[in-house]
Amino acid sequence: MTSQEIRKRFLDFFAKRNHAILDSASLITADDPKATNATLFNTAGMQPLIPFLMGESHSKGSRLASSQKCVRTGDLEEVGDNTHATFFEMLGNWSLGDYFKEDAITWSWQFLTDKEEGLGLDPNRLYVTVFAGNDMVPKDTEAVEIWKQFIPEHRIYYRDSKDNWWTAGANSPAGPSTEMFYDLTGELGDLSAKEFEQADEDQKLVEIWNDVFMAYKLEGGEIVGELPQKNVDTGAGLERVAAVMQGTTNIFDTDLFVPLLDILKQHARNYNERHARIIADHIKTAVFLINDGVVISNTGRGYVLRRILRRAYNSLEAIECSEKIIPELIHAVVLMYKDLYFKDVDEKKIAIKIKIVATEMDKIVKIIQRGVKIFKKLKDDPNTIVTGKFLMDLEQTQGLPLSMSQKLAKKFGIIISDEAIEDCKKIRREHQELSRKGAEKKFKGGLAEDTPKIRALHTATHLMLAGLRKELGDDVHQKGSNITEERTRFDFTYDEKVSRDILDKVEDYVNNAISTNAKMGVQLMDKNEAKNSDVVGSFWEKYPDTVKVWTISDSEGNIYSRELCGGPHVDELLQIAEFGTFKIKKEESSSAGVRRIKAILEK
Ligand code: SER
Repeated sequence: MTSQEIRKRFLDFFAKRNHAILDSASLITADDPKATNATLFNTAGMQPLIPFLMGESHSKGSRLASSQKCVRTGDLEEVGDNTHATFFEMLGNWSLGDYFKEDAITWSWQFLTDKEEGLGLDPNRLYVTVFAGNDMVPKDTEAVEIWKQFIPEHRIYYRDSKDNWWTAGANSPAGPSTEMFYDLTGELGDLSAKEFEQADEDQKLVEIWNDVFMAYKLEGGEIVGELPQKNVDTGAGLERVAAVMQGTTNIFDTDLFVPLLDILKQHARNYNERHARIIADHIKTAVFLINDGVVISNTGRGYVLRRILRRAYNSLEAIECSEKIIPELIHAVVLMYKDLYFKDVDEKKIAIKIKIVATEMDKIVKIIQRGVKIFKKLKDDPNTIVTGKFLMDLEQTQGLPLSMSQKLAKKFGIIISDEAIEDCKKIRREHQELSRKGAEKKFKGGLAEDTPKIRALHTATHLMLAGLRKELGDDVHQKGSNITEERTRFDFTYDEKVSRDILDKVEDYVNNAISTNAKMGVQLMDKNEAKNSDVVGSFWEKYPDTVKVWTISDSEGNIYSRELCGGPHVDELLQIAEFGTFKIKKEESSSAGVRRIKAILEK
């Protein structure tokens, strides 16, 4: 069965059971200061859904399913073994306080075993694990009772929280899980608990699906109570399911990788499977990241992109394959996922991606040339001692990563001590910590901090934009904003000075809305749906495919503002009134065609 067919069957199966099918969200996680996790990319299908699992209502209802693009870069060194890739897709179905264990397990079983609607896997090759319980959460005997309808009890195993507990971070929804395993060998038969563990360790079994019963709320890593609703969150890695369905034990032998490996086989002068897998995976990930707007840089997401391209380059070198092969690989990736993720990617856009990758590859070649010069010189100087700081400087100023320095040193017979390497890594960690903190600050979306006053000014700024558009027309768009405890500074598109008379009207609009004690509501919407409705937004391209829309409306249903935004905001508008009345203090030109307003809340 092709991967395309698997995806389709999965989504059709759940659509038939009244699930709304969501498009995959962007790989880039929302820059949300209240974000419950701090990962750079979506690493699981549930990640874009965290606010809804925590209790927000979803515009598409309480039953959802998707195939979500994910990138995990935690196990980079393991990429290229049988099961690890940085890019993968996760099939998932969700209940937001709708069905719970009975339906979730029944449907998982049906999809895995049913020949017509599902995968038609042999039930005798399936095993399941359930949560063994801990101090806070009981042993999941309920799941066992449900499973017993489908699978003999001796093929159900208890595992502890290391395996059968799922959470997306220290502040997130969480819960016990039940996992489904498939016998890759077809020979295992009934297994005792000990034999099951051994078979898993020997990779004779593969975990193909995980159903999480998300009913708990974590804060600071501790369970602080139950969620307002009991959710189901399931995840099945498409690549692994494809391997099972295509009769292989290895994700790289599936139709999701073979076309890329074939190209490399044709062009490599010294083909090596492991290196070829790394190239295939990394180029695929790079294409997806670039497509979702990641720009190469030395920090954050851009650094991940740079790093995987460098690794791809190293592997190209290892198999003696020219980087001229890259356009062909990029075309192949786009072709492979065309109908799903690259519908609007035409030749021109492919050319842009090729250019980005090629430019980066050129840079790498130059860096290596510089590195060769530096190490040649070191070789000629008998007094050289390579310190950690020196290695870090090479990384930062010459762009020469530690791994490359090590390689070059070896080539020129220069010894680098373990201590120097450790030192370099330590300095790097310190730098990363600093840039992480910097990034966290930046992610506040124009807000200096998240305080009650700043939230109040932020919500008032939404009202002000709505007021300006009402008075000056829909050509008024936000160009930028910066909010501190003292004031909101807001830039918007408009060609001429705005009269005091109009500013007064805008002030009235804001203060009137506040006096009705309108409520702030937030909703997640498809970006395109939001764009085509009455939602006001700027910088659409910076947002993921699923966006947060904040609506200010009173009890009679009058809408005062409806705007795309990451938050945070007040819950109700009287929280703004606590800080006084809204006043526009200043209106001036900011740049050509852009005006700037400074406004405050004053008692
Ligand atoms: N969140 C769980 C996982 O990623 C199930 O979707 O495995």
